[in-house]
Amino acid sequence: MKRRRILFAFIVATFLTLIVGLLSNLAATYLAPTWADKPWIIYVALAVTFLISLAVSSHLFLKTLPDFETTAQTNSLSSLSSPDQPSSKQPQIIASQLPGKSYRELIGRDILIGDVLAALRDPSGKWIVTVDGMGGIGKTALVRELADRCASEHLFDAVVWDQAPKESQGLPTTAGKGKGTLTYETVLDSIARQLGALDVPRLKRPEKEIRVKGLLQVQRVLIVLDNLETAKESQNEIVRRLLPLLNPSKTLMTSRHRFQGDVYAVHLPGLDEDGALRFIRQEAKEKNIQNVSNASVSELKQIAETTGGSPLALKLVVGQLSLLPLATVLEQLRKVKLPKGDSDKNDYVRFYKGIFSPSWKLMSEDGKKLLISMSHFAPGIGGTYEAVKATSDLTNEILAGCIDELWRLSFLEKGESPSLKKVRYYLHALTQYFVLSDIVKVL
Ligand SMILES: Nc1ncnc2c1ncn2[C@@H]1O[C@H](COP(=O)(O)OP(=O)(O)O)[C@@H](O)[C@H]1O
Ligand SMILES: [Mg+2]
Repeated sequence: MKRRRILFAFIVATFLTLIVGLLSNLAATYLAPTWADKPWIIYVALAVTFLISLAVSSHLFLKTLPDFETTAQTNSLSSLSSPDQPSSKQPQIIASQLPGKSYRELIGRDILIGDVLAALRDPSGKWIVTVDGMGGIGKTALVRELADRCASEHLFDAVVWDQAPKESQGLPTTAGKGKGTLTYETVLDSIARQLGALDVPRLKRPEKEIRVKGLLQVQRVLIVLDNLETAKESQNEIVRRLLPLLNPSKTLMTSRHRFQGDVYAVHLPGLDEDGALRFIRQEAKEKNIQNVSNASVSELKQIAETTGGSPLALKLVVGQLSLLPLATVLEQLRKVKLPKGDSDKNDYVRFYKGIFSPSWKLMSEDGKKLLISMSHFAPGIGGTYEAVKATSDLTNEILAGCIDELWRLSFLEKGESPSLKKVRYYLHALTQYFVLSDIVKVL
């Protein structure tokens, strides 16, 4: 754009010079003899043409120069943050660490997204927004969507993402025994690394904190921390220690447990009836499940009610409809008891067990084998086709059929990893939990 303007200014200036030259020649040849007694007319004409040409050329040339004020501001900012400030002078969203999306379209969360975006936008609002809710309710999907919206609306200069790895030890019944690896300090390392300050993880704690604080104060960074219920350190302790480093940067956190402290807290409920119905229809369309299009609205409402609008539970139930008649699925669902409010962990485990078991029973023997071998990959991350094949011991033809079977039953998810641009197959953390803790025991 700038190059084109410079070229245009150059052409106009040359053209005006040509006109001045022509005018003076014409004046000398034709007008000079008749206006010999009035030379001032020629001088005035030349002066006027010259002044017009000077004004136009200067204006065009000035427009091509960079904006000095913005440049000065950028320079003072980078000198403050040096050497941590990303080198690019253009405002640019760094969001390369975001995981792939696990959903096609996020359904039924528009109002909530509007509220959270308003809280994130508010310069005098809370610095930390927390999202809590039971497994499979859609916490990760929600914050993934929020991160995307923040990036596309340029609400932040950078978005960084970190998650407590979900190991089988971190899952409900054994929680506390062998917690994950995420701590306040590993979060600091991860933020620094993603913002390009690669030397920071090697520093001692106080210096590390000062550097990360600097990084988070010279630019607006959105930090997303997912799955904090599996962190090694208490999630409330992480909130407490991270808080003084923020402003203007903000943090978005998720956990199965409620947060305490100075936060904007969102307790994520299941999808409402309308959202759940739209979700069921979208899922059935994607998996080409006819039983759903034949179902009445009141039958679909029963599914919405018994699953409490949990997207994961809805997916599993829709998957069952690919192999069972609606009446049978509804009959099985009547036995499932939805956990109420802050009910204890066992209620919630029993609820999902009631949803997972019928799906498990529908699976072929090879499908079960594949699911068990898949449960050894990290949930939410999984592996490529080659990696899955290597661990499953199934031939290519059988494996392709089993992957499709598991996907249709919603035991397995497909997604493209943004960095590798390769399809990965993975289990949801809850699916992995049920495969390892429950299903394997009954084999
Ligand atoms: N509002 C939604 N619209 C569409 N899909 C959703 C929605 N919420 C969750 N999902 C999907 O449901 C599954 C479970 O959601 P997830 O975000 O992983 O739950 P959580 O993080 O609470 O365990 C994922 O496959 C996710 O993509
Ligand atoms: Mg999650």
